[in-house]
Amino acid sequence: MRDAPSARTLLDWYDANARTMPWRISPRDRSGGMRPDPYRVWLSEVMLQQTTVAAVRAYFMKFTELWPTVNSLAAAEDSTVMAEWAGLGYYARARNLLKCARVVAQEHGGRFPETRDELMKLPGIGPYTASAIAAIAFDEPATVVDGNVERVMARIHAVETPLPSAKPELTRLAEALTPGDRPGDYAQAVMDLGATICTTRSPACGICPWMRCCAARMLGTAKELPKKTPKKAKPVRLGLVYVARRDDGAWLLETRPETGLLGGMLGWPGTDWEEKLPEESPPISAEWTDPGVEVRHTFTHFHLRLALRLACTPVDTGTTRGTFVPSAEFRPSALPTVMRKVYEMVVTDGRLVERSSTQRL
Ligand code: ADE
Repeated sequence: MRDAPSARTLLDWYDANARTMPWRISPRDRSGGMRPDPYRVWLSEVMLQQTTVAAVRAYFMKFTELWPTVNSLAAAEDSTVMAEWAGLGYYARARNLLKCARVVAQEHGGRFPETRDELMKLPGIGPYTASAIAAIAFDEPATVVDGNVERVMARIHAVETPLPSAKPELTRLAEALTPGDRPGDYAQAVMDLGATICTTRSPACGICPWMRCCAARMLGTAKELPKKTPKKAKPVRLGLVYVARRDDGAWLLETRPETGLLGGMLGWPGTDWEEKLPEESPPISAEWTDPGVEVRHTFTHFHLRLALRLACTPVDTGTTRGTFVPSAEFRPSALPTVMRKVYEMVVTDGRLVERSSTQRL
């Protein structure tokens, strides 16, 4: 006979096994009355959208060191925040993060609203993030459903329907289990279970607190669930990217338009990214060379191949597009990953660094 899954069993496991995270209040401290800072919960949840805990940690530490409160973040320069977000991906999150911080600072007196419904009205906070903040920061019994939770629900209930069609059913199953007592700890407990025991490839069923209630374990199908409808192959897009360096070492860069991919981020000027290699469209007039190399990068919906064009230019070069950034002010870490790959290709391949630019790198 299979036991019914119980939130209590999982909370007991969490009390002994909760992961330590810089934004988390441990179950022991929570039971002692300590509450998490809603600002830190919100920041971590926005960073954790489509991103792993491992990737988020260092960014979270840096952000909270630079901006310890929502009011301080609201007062930051857009370009500074975008530069600090560089490398974390999904850059619309950073633009919405700032919008949200400013709304909270200006319209809510620096205090986050405390209900899921009110949180959903803020920029960049969708159903998932609103539930996570409401549960973790304010102990509202909201159900948090991320990939980990879907996997756990699919397995304990042996749901054979493939994702994404199974989402509504998995959400209903997750809702049915959400307790009125300690919903914040419970939300984090299911995520921890999915991340550490009920993992995609090698679930550790033998030490799972829910082993007695897991239908897939009994059927021997845990590893196969959740089923997934195969994704369409990603198309390839092509583009040209122009890297110009002045004789004084300055690099030609531009801030990308607010809307669209990598919106608001710093980058090398280039063409649109299309199915066929676009026409040349250099940002300044110079002697552009083709080093015969390309940079590859994969986004959520397509693979990108960027062909490089290089130029060295004199100091009196005017610009038509972009700005020459002095070498001392240029921080490659402010570039989104694809643009950083371009930079690394330019500086690591000796053939690509011409004349005077070499010694100033
Ligand atoms: N993934 C997203 N939010 C999380 C959280 N609060 N704890 C663990 N993993 C998470």
